[in-house]
Amino acid sequence: MKFQLKSDSISKLSADIIILAVNKSNDLCSSTSLSKTLRDALNLIIKLDDLPKNTGSINIEHMHGEFKRVCFVRIQNQDSLDEEDLLKSAKNIFKKLKSIKCGTVVLPVNQFVNKKINEGTVANLFTKAAIDESYEVNSLKSDKKASKNNYQINFQVNKLDSNAIKLGIKEGHAIAEGMNLTKDLGNLPPNICTPTYLANQAKNIAKDFKMKSTILSQKQIEKLKMGSFLSVAKGSRLEPKFIIIEHKKGKKSSKPVVLVGKGITFDSGGISLKPGSAMDEMKYDMCGAATVLGVMKTIGLLNLPLNVVGLIPACENMPDGLAVKPGDIVTSMSGQTIEILNTDAEGRLVLCDALTYAERYKPETVIDIATLTGACVIALGHHASAVFSKSDELANDLLAAGKKSIDKAWRMPLWDEYQPLLNSNFADIANIGGRAAGSITAACFLSRFTKKYSWAHIDIAGTAWNSGANKGATGRPVSLLSQFLMHKSKK
Ligand code: BES
Ligand code: MN
Ligand code: ZN
Repeated sequence: MKFQLKSDSISKLSADIIILAVNKSNDLCSSTSLSKTLRDALNLIIKLDDLPKNTGSINIEHMHGEFKRVCFVRIQNQDSLDEEDLLKSAKNIFKKLKSIKCGTVVLPVNQFVNKKINEGTVANLFTKAAIDESYEVNSLKSDKKASKNNYQINFQVNKLDSNAIKLGIKEGHAIAEGMNLTKDLGNLPPNICTPTYLANQAKNIAKDFKMKSTILSQKQIEKLKMGSFLSVAKGSRLEPKFIIIEHKKGKKSSKPVVLVGKGITFDSGGISLKPGSAMDEMKYDMCGAATVLGVMKTIGLLNLPLNVVGLIPACENMPDGLAVKPGDIVTSMSGQTIEILNTDAEGRLVLCDALTYAERYKPETVIDIATLTGACVIALGHHASAVFSKSDELANDLLAAGKKSIDKAWRMPLWDEYQPLLNSNFADIANIGGRAAGSITAACFLSRFTKKYSWAHIDIAGTAWNSGANKGATGRPVSLLSQFLMHKSKK
C-alpha cells in the first residue's frame, strides 16, 4: 500500500479508479476540479440513479479515458458529513475494491472536507480504512492466494505542502498496522499462538522500535509470588510467561501509562469446563494481550514521546489432574487470598497479579484490556467496549478517544454497592459474584488490586472479534487506545 499527495488538477491525473462523492440530489461535489467533458459524462451516469440512497453506499462504473473506472459513494450532504459516516464510506469503498483489479486510486480530498472534517482527517480515515480493509488472514490454508489488495492511493489536494495531510496519513497508517498485528495474533490458532509465541512477538516489537522487553519465566513468576496467575497456568502443559515491554521515549521524569492485557491463549474454562459449542473462539481470549502489542507497534511507528509500559500475563486455562479446582484458595501477589469458586473466571486471576506488578512503575495511569466476561456481551453487544473506572477524568478521556477514533466505548458503573457480591466465607475475596451484573463484579474484583493508582478497565469481550461467517479478530480497541495516547503526547 502506498499513499501519495498529488496537487495536479484531476484532468491531469489518470488511474484505475477515481473516487467521487455524490450528494442527496445526485450531484457531484462542485469544488472538485473535473474537466467539463468528464463532469458531463459522469452526470449522465449518476442520473441513471443506480447509486442506493443510504450513506456510504457504493457503485462502480466503467469509463473511457484517463480513469478506467469511477467509484461513486453516497455522502448525502458534504456540509453535514461526519467522521463516522466518512469512515464507514471509506471502508465500504475498500471492501468493494477488493473484488476488482485496481492498482492506482485517485481520491480528491476536497469533496469530503467541511467545518468538522479537515484534509488531515480525510487522509487519516481513508488511510486507516484502506489498510484495515486490506487485511487478510495470515493464511494457514495450503493454497495461498496472492494478495490483491495493494493499491497506490493518490490523495488529490490543492497544496502539496499540507502537513496536516501528511500527519493524517502517518497516524492512520500506524494505527491500522497496529490493528492488523492485533488481528493476526488473535486469528492464529491456539496451538501456534502460545504464551511463548506472544513473548517472541514482544521481543520482535522491542527490537524493531528500540523498546525494552523482558520475559519472566515460571520460576521468576513464582519468585514474585504471583499465586493467582500461577493457579490458572497449573492445568496447562505450556509454561506461563509474564511479558514486559517498555517504550521509554518520554521525559525521564514523566510517569508511564501502563497497559495490561489479558493473555489467555486458550480458555477451556478449566475444571469448570465450558460447553463445547464455539469453544474454538476462546483462542481469542488473548485479544487484550494482542491489543497491548498492537498499540506498542503503533506508538513505535509514531515514535510517540511518551513512557508506556505493556504487561501481559500469558498462559492457557486447561483442565488437568493438577489444575486449580473450585474451592481452592490461592494467595495473590498483593497478599489478598482468593477463593476460586469457578475456574472459568480466570481472566481476573491473571490480571490481578499483573495489576499489582504495575505498582512498581509508580504509573500515571493503568489501563487493563480484557475479553473478561460473557456478561459484557449481554450488556453492550458488539458495538461498544465497556469502560470501568472510578476516575471520571480517565473514563471521559477514554470515551472521547473512542468517539474520535470511531472505536466506541461506553461507561459502566463501578459502585461500591456491588463489592459485597464478592464476599467469601473462607478467603478475602471470591473470584465470582453470581449471575447478576457479571461484568461489573468482574471489574469490582480487579478494583481491589488497583488502589495505588488511577485505573481503568476495558472489557472487550463483545468487540475484539466477530463470530459467524466473518469470524475473525477486529483489531479493537487499538484505535481507541492509540488515540488516547496520541492525545496525551500532544498535551
Ligand atoms: N473469556 C471468558 C469471557 C468471554 C466469554 C468472552 C464469552 C467472550 C465471550 C472468561 O474467562 C469467562 O469465562 N468468564 C465467565 C465468568 C463467569 C464464570 C463468572 C463468563 O463470562 O461466563
Ligand atoms: Mn474463562
Ligand atoms: Zn477467559
